[in-house]
Amino acid sequence: MPYQTLFEFAAPTRLVFGPGAIQQVPRLLEDAGEGRTLIVTDPGIRSVGLLDRLTAVLDRAGRSYAVFDETEANPSAETVERCARRYLDDGCGMLIAIGGGSSMDVAKGTGILATNGGRVMEYEGINKVRQPIPFLLCIPTTYGTGSEVTPFSVITDRSRQFKATIGSPLIVPAAAVLDPDLSVRLPIPIAGATGMDALTHGIEAYVCLAGNTVTRAFAIQAIELIAANLRQAAASDHHVAATEQMLIAATLAGHSFAFTRLGNVHAMAHPLGAHFNIPHGVANAVLLPHVMEYNLMACPDQYARIAAAMGEEVRGLSAMDAARRAVAAVRTLSADVGIPANLAALGARREAFPAMAADAMKSGNIPVNPRKTGLEDILMLFERAYA
Ligand SMILES: [Fe+2]
Repeated sequence: MPYQTLFEFAAPTRLVFGPGAIQQVPRLLEDAGEGRTLIVTDPGIRSVGLLDRLTAVLDRAGRSYAVFDETEANPSAETVERCARRYLDDGCGMLIAIGGGSSMDVAKGTGILATNGGRVMEYEGINKVRQPIPFLLCIPTTYGTGSEVTPFSVITDRSRQFKATIGSPLIVPAAAVLDPDLSVRLPIPIAGATGMDALTHGIEAYVCLAGNTVTRAFAIQAIELIAANLRQAAASDHHVAATEQMLIAATLAGHSFAFTRLGNVHAMAHPLGAHFNIPHGVANAVLLPHVMEYNLMACPDQYARIAAAMGEEVRGLSAMDAARRAVAAVRTLSADVGIPANLAALGARREAFPAMAADAMKSGNIPVNPRKTGLEDILMLFERAYA
């Protein structure tokens, strides 16, 4: 099974978990010195009062800060460059990202420009970054990306309608605060989409050809926690324990795919974001069962293990039958948290599929997908997910 037998694992991000953990931000910033912090966020985080909760903590600690709140979904290179100008013009020396994966990815891109200069798309690909980014503390408020512990930043190049991945160990955040008090009122569409993104990370990392015993341990635990907690976390504004388990699950999944990459779902979801601005987690959730069905025959034992982790009864079943239970469990969970049934319902148009399939094939996630995949396979999977 292993695609690689030599592997490394490191988890350098300092993590603080728990209700009220946001109060620990000043203590964590002490590692970075006395300079001004640029807070990177989005208008939604400001409007629901989460930015104020962070700045109140910083004010009490006497920390100086500036705010960039212009992050959008599927953030663009232009946004990163605007944020980097703010960082430099305001004389900042460190970064805090508060929000979803977009804010964290913009903060990573900003950090790259702050210490490396140039334009952000110059760093597309793996290991193009030369200098470590400044101190970056992430405060994820969704259950999604795991970006707080990964070496990846995904930035959209609007001129190419392409979501570009920048990967480098030099952009891994220094610290992260996972405080369920900030996420417990997440609206169901965001909770559902980001939770399904984290589930996709767990499943793709678990079956991925580049996985190893360590990364699979993180991935299967993430899958189990998401199956057990996403519904309650999404359904209630008060279920702090389920919310905390979801934040932990997203981070565990991040620790896994940071080393393995992902698979066909992510390769295909990125063009959906670039062409139709479909939220990343929603695109993943719609594609995931179709890619799982395609992959089943390559690694049925692993999918059977996923089915069991998701609470399915698999005793006495053949490996393939048990594996199919994993697909059914994903479909049920996805529907329960309000994910639309197909790509047509999301506004995707079939005439874009050839260009999207060509873009998907450029992804580094394709070579590690457990079942070998060509352009025609990706086109077929887009068609299956369409209606
Ligand atoms: Fe993702």
